[in-house]
Amino acid sequence: MTPPPIVSIINGPNLNMLGMRQPEVYGRESLADVEALCRTHAEKLGLAVEFRQSNAEGDLVTWIQQARGRAAGIIINAGAYTHTSIAILDALLAAEVMAVEVHLSNIHQRDSFRHHSFVAGVAKGTICGFGSHGYILALDALARLIKGSSEA
Ligand code: DQA
Repeated sequence: MTPPPIVSIINGPNLNMLGMRQPEVYGRESLADVEALCRTHAEKLGLAVEFRQSNAEGDLVTWIQQARGRAAGIIINAGAYTHTSIAILDALLAAEVMAVEVHLSNIHQRDSFRHHSFVAGVAKGTICGFGSHGYILALDALARLIKGSSEA
């Protein structure tokens, strides 16, 4: 049997504080709760999930690079690095792995500095404003894309 396609779920700075951090903006679930949701849903979709978080930009770059040739897709919530990081943009270009950008909050309804995303330019699509459910929507989108690319 062929092993399930790998989806690398990469979370950036301050997402380890989920549940405690501005719950009115980001919700009351912890990152461990989001991880559990993703693992349960990915299993139903026949996908294997790697779920990671770091506050360090370089870790995110390394994990994106490591997805090259190994992962079928990336789901990335780069936190505030979304709005600042050319290094993450370059890593996504170098990885050549389909990526879906996720944000818990609707970044377009917030401060103007959150309206620009370096990730959006290279992601297949962006899901924002649906809280933790955004990760489920991203998994659904990737599962469809991965299935489509294996049939092509
Ligand atoms: C976020 C939105 C970013 O603007 C912010 O810096 C975060 C979280 C979100 O998931 O809504 O850290 O990526």
